[in-house]
Amino acid sequence: MERTLIKDLRGKIDQTVKLQGWLQTLRDQKKMQFLILRDPTGLVQVAHWKPNDEILASNIASLGAETALTIIGKVIDNPVVKLNQLEVQLESLVVENLAESPLPFDPFAETLPALDYRLDWRYMDLRRAYNYLLFQVQTTMEMAMREYWLKHDFIEIHSPKLMGTPSESGAELFSLDYFERKAYLAQSPQFYKQMAMAAGFERIFEIGPVFRADPSFTARHMTEFTGVDLEISWIDSHEDVMAFEENWLQYVYARVKELHGEAIKETFGVELVVPQVPFPRIPMRDAVEILKSRGYVLPADKKGDIDPGGEREIASYVKEKFDHDFVFLTDWPIGVRPFYHMRLAGDETLTRSFDLIANGLEITTGAQREHRPEILAKQALEKGLHLEPIQYYIDFFRYGCPPHGGFGLGLSRLLMVMLNLPNIRDCLLYTSDAADDLLCVDLGGRRIIKKKKIEQQHKFKN
Ligand code: 4AD
Ligand code: MG
Repeated sequence: MERTLIKDLRGKIDQTVKLQGWLQTLRDQKKMQFLILRDPTGLVQVAHWKPNDEILASNIASLGAETALTIIGKVIDNPVVKLNQLEVQLESLVVENLAESPLPFDPFAETLPALDYRLDWRYMDLRRAYNYLLFQVQTTMEMAMREYWLKHDFIEIHSPKLMGTPSESGAELFSLDYFERKAYLAQSPQFYKQMAMAAGFERIFEIGPVFRADPSFTARHMTEFTGVDLEISWIDSHEDVMAFEENWLQYVYARVKELHGEAIKETFGVELVVPQVPFPRIPMRDAVEILKSRGYVLPADKKGDIDPGGEREIASYVKEKFDHDFVFLTDWPIGVRPFYHMRLAGDETLTRSFDLIANGLEITTGAQREHRPEILAKQALEKGLHLEPIQYYIDFFRYGCPPHGGFGLGLSRLLMVMLNLPNIRDCLLYTSDAADDLLCVDLGGRRIIKKKKIEQQHKFKN
């Protein structure tokens, strides 16, 4: 017999069906047993009249919550039943996997343990419909990104994650033994995105893993995350990249709202707003003045960069002034940007670059790249880099390479912003940041050092 999903039961009244799922609760009464069965599509009440089969009744009585079951039964229309106004009358039951009692925690209890504890039992935590929806939304987000790219003639690339040279800078770099040599984990697909531009691909994207050896423990940094990257050729400036990104994001929001708007409102209490384009743009020089005028003092060591508090303050300003949740901060000083960002015509101290701040959180950094090899080499030297290890990269631009630019976006940061979640760890299947299992996992995948200890070991960035 084929499996029926709980959401489809209404169309099967008076038929015998096969259901598969988890025993969420059991109400064992004198004559009746009620099993609330859950599958990813919903809950249903399964009823067993005990005198029908006393052995089965005692088997059912011994089942722990969260046991995985296959159930055969007849679907009965019953307006008295609160759940879907129907129930399934049990005919037979197979215990596929008995859940031990007690559970590490009840994922369906009204009060849940702290995230820290739940991450130790992530597969239990993920059983909540809340988390299922979260990953459905992420799936739709990626689908919509791809739909938009494909409509606009993009090509997908998969770039190497083991690299011979650092892909961004010397900092935040994981190195490892690669036979007799050292290799590095990719901090971004930056160089390969640009190689694709030199190859004449013109418009490319990649969704893939990115590694950053940053030991700070924050609610928005991971040592491994999923990067969404794209690169476009024949641009005039970073303005073209921003224009692409805002339209693309508008499409992604619209698709997510179309497919999950109601569920998101119900589960996350968030009314998804499809952002208006164009997003506001503020040059960094102005942003610093705006912050000053609002009494926000940037830390002295920031040298033209902005800190998380400043990002939130600018977001409040943009909300008040433009009623917008997104803002592009543009034209960053060269001191806080990588060597490959192109300089602004007319002001060599600034770059053709931008960050996108969404609800006060940086979700993207992008730029027009310097594609003239002599200038690129000069900028690298100015940053104190040695040319030899990056010469292969500079060579990409020696044989005809169009002007180009692109951006990188953190997939989980976008999800955080969309669903208004406070911690990036809420948005990940499993965490592997320095404060977690990379440093302290046992072979069973459970963390053996508690976060408290880790927090003491690492400086705590806000
Ligand atoms: O700002 P980042 O470091 O920029 C780059 O990687 C450039 N190559 C992008 C470009 O094309 N010019 O990283 C891009 C985005 C950030 O804006 C943020 O959303 C996310 O990646 N990100 C992180 N997400 C989680 N944990 C971390 N440690 C992150 N670091 C960056
Ligand atoms: Mg950045």
